[in-house]
Amino acid sequence: MNARAATDSAATPSLDAHWMPFTANRAFKRAPRLLVTAKDMHYVAADGRRVLDGTAGLWCVNAGHAREPIARAIAEQAATLDYAPGFQMGHPLAFAAAQRVAALTPRGLDRIFFTNSGSEAVDTALKIALAYWKAKGEPERIRFVGRERGYHGVGFGGTSVGGIEANRRQFAGQLLPHVDHLPHTHDLAHNAFSRGQPAWGAHFADALEALIAKHGGHTIAAVIVEPMAGSTGVLVPPAGYLERLRDLCSRHGILLIFDEVITGFGRLGAPFAAQFFGVTPDLVTMAKGITNAAVPMGAVAVHRRIHDAVVDGAPGGIELFHGYTYSGHPLACAAALATLDLYEREGLFARAAELAPYWADAVHRLDGAPHAIDVRNIGLVGAVELAPRDGAPGARAFDAFLDCLEHGVLVRVAGDTIALSPPLIVSTAQIDEIVQAVADALRRVA
Ligand SMILES: Cc1ncc(COP(=O)(O)O)c(C=O)c1O
Repeated sequence: MNARAATDSAATPSLDAHWMPFTANRAFKRAPRLLVTAKDMHYVAADGRRVLDGTAGLWCVNAGHAREPIARAIAEQAATLDYAPGFQMGHPLAFAAAQRVAALTPRGLDRIFFTNSGSEAVDTALKIALAYWKAKGEPERIRFVGRERGYHGVGFGGTSVGGIEANRRQFAGQLLPHVDHLPHTHDLAHNAFSRGQPAWGAHFADALEALIAKHGGHTIAAVIVEPMAGSTGVLVPPAGYLERLRDLCSRHGILLIFDEVITGFGRLGAPFAAQFFGVTPDLVTMAKGITNAAVPMGAVAVHRRIHDAVVDGAPGGIELFHGYTYSGHPLACAAALATLDLYEREGLFARAAELAPYWADAVHRLDGAPHAIDVRNIGLVGAVELAPRDGAPGARAFDAFLDCLEHGVLVRVAGDTIALSPPLIVSTAQIDEIVQAVADALRRVA
């Protein structure tokens, strides 16, 4: 259906067949919220209203919507080489895209494995960690350590190392064994209304020491964390926390995986959060912004020594028994190359860094807004945590989300937190508009 047909309510299809992901299906289908077109900073809703995108879609449309060079690259690729098998065959764009991604990743992490999503990137990274330790002759390293409130997608691996309880509950008892979780780093008593990284809380990393003492460091394959936890409601790492995790992992030979599905590609004003925070992990997972979300794609950047141990350590033939039909799909690679060109040409990562102080000032104008118990920011990410309504967790933030949408601004809710993450092309006037919509909504919601 084209955009005009979609905006014509008579052409709206039945909503029954599509079982929507992470959605209250019954409520949605009673009162649907449909977006039908998008350009740059705006969506157009089915009723024709323009909606300012305060969330870059789902933290992924970093260069803004429907960018012509990306659309053209995808269309040309579809007409040139629509698909090529990625197992025992290849096509040049996958190698070109890997080389381009490797030029942005932290130093040493220059071997790139393509997936189709963040979830697949996470499961791939966990499997590479296990394969690495087998290749190194340390097969007893099978344990993974995640973190409370962490989000690592929805595969069995990612769900297992993830720490958002609601995502785990329906599958309890059937997740990966040998997984522990560090405590999350959120502490309102010490850190409410911090600007940037909270000063207090580096010691939360020391919980890893206790796990090492309990299990033996030689049994832990990898620790996986989001350098900035996004989906749980924007938890900014306390100053010194990531450094301490890095140090503990290094001392015990444990691999450190940064899940940068949200923070990759400029969200904090550097290519990756690893560079922004000055802490280098051993593997980085990414997705979303890699193609500006125009074609699904994910990837794992792997340190060369890990890649070499697995590849050179294999007796011959296939070295890693893992991959997807669409790993390095030509359309995704074309989109990635065009996207990375666009980021570079428009200097969007530097732009995010330059806008970050303005963004911080704007977001912290919400300090003291009705119901706000915390306001957080880092890079071009902001969050307002609301006091929950008695007996109805999340309801107040959801009402604020609906109010913002009604007034033409898309924000995101995670529990009782409103999360903001506009495309990196956002103007200062649009930043003000987003923040004002949230301020107005908080005055209106009960
Ligand atoms: C940190 C992180 N990891 C993994 C994922 C999963 O990515 P996908 O939804 O593409 O599978 C997400 C999605 O938001 C994420 O934020």
